Amino acid sequence: MIITEAEFLQSNTNYKKCPEAILPEYAFIGRSNVGKSSLINMLVSQKGLALTSSRPGKTQLINHFIVNKRWYLVDLPGFGYAKVSKINREKWAKMIYDYLEFRENLMVVFLLIDSRIPPQQIDLDFINKLATMGLPFVIVFTKTDKVSNNIVNNTMFEYKKILSESWESLPQMFITSAEKKIGREEILDYIDSCNKLYNKNS
Ligand code: GTP
Ligand code: MG
Repeated sequence: MIITEAEFLQSNTNYKKCPEAILPEYAFIGRSNVGKSSLINMLVSQKGLALTSSRPGKTQLINHFIVNKRWYLVDLPGFGYAKVSKINREKWAKMIYDYLEFRENLMVVFLLIDSRIPPQQIDLDFINKLATMGLPFVIVFTKTDKVSNNIVNNTMFEYKKILSESWESLPQMFITSAEKKIGREEILDYIDSCNKLYNKNS
């Protein structure tokens, strides 16, 4: 898929105030600092579209972008940042889980995981939550430019091993680097195929 335009629309705390649910939507989530906003910028080839930072906790709201006037990309705030207060963690959970549960046009959740580190309980818990909610999701391994292929493959293998203990089918997985633009075509092709499904069924 060729990206002709990508534009920021709105930031919200409540899914009810998000743009009208009339286009297929793809949400990016994962631990703080895993590279969600950077990946979105890489996908649409616009460096500063989603705001990024080397410090965790940059994205705080539900941020909608519209791409090619035909689909929405959503940049979500990360989880798992140790310095967040209990109250803010609860606010995050309410905002995100309501959005995930009730956003009607949400096609697929892209769960980002740092390719450099072995499976962490917090990511496994989130995967199980998505699966239990019955939400379609894929796993995106990020920052692969920072480590060897061996480490990336090993992280992916470990996830497959653990997930296959609980789940019959494994989610699709993508290997990416926002820095080196790895995985861009694969993800855009995947979104394109989901858009076609959405248009066929609507
Ligand atoms: P929050 O909004 O805080 O949850 O973070 P985020 O997941 O949106 O991460 P963000 O895109 O802001 O990136 C965090 C840091 O990781 C930034 O310093 C990015 O430059 C860096 N980063 C993101 N993706 C990559 C990548 O593929 N390779 C490298 N080397 N660095 C990356
Ligand atoms: Mg962010």
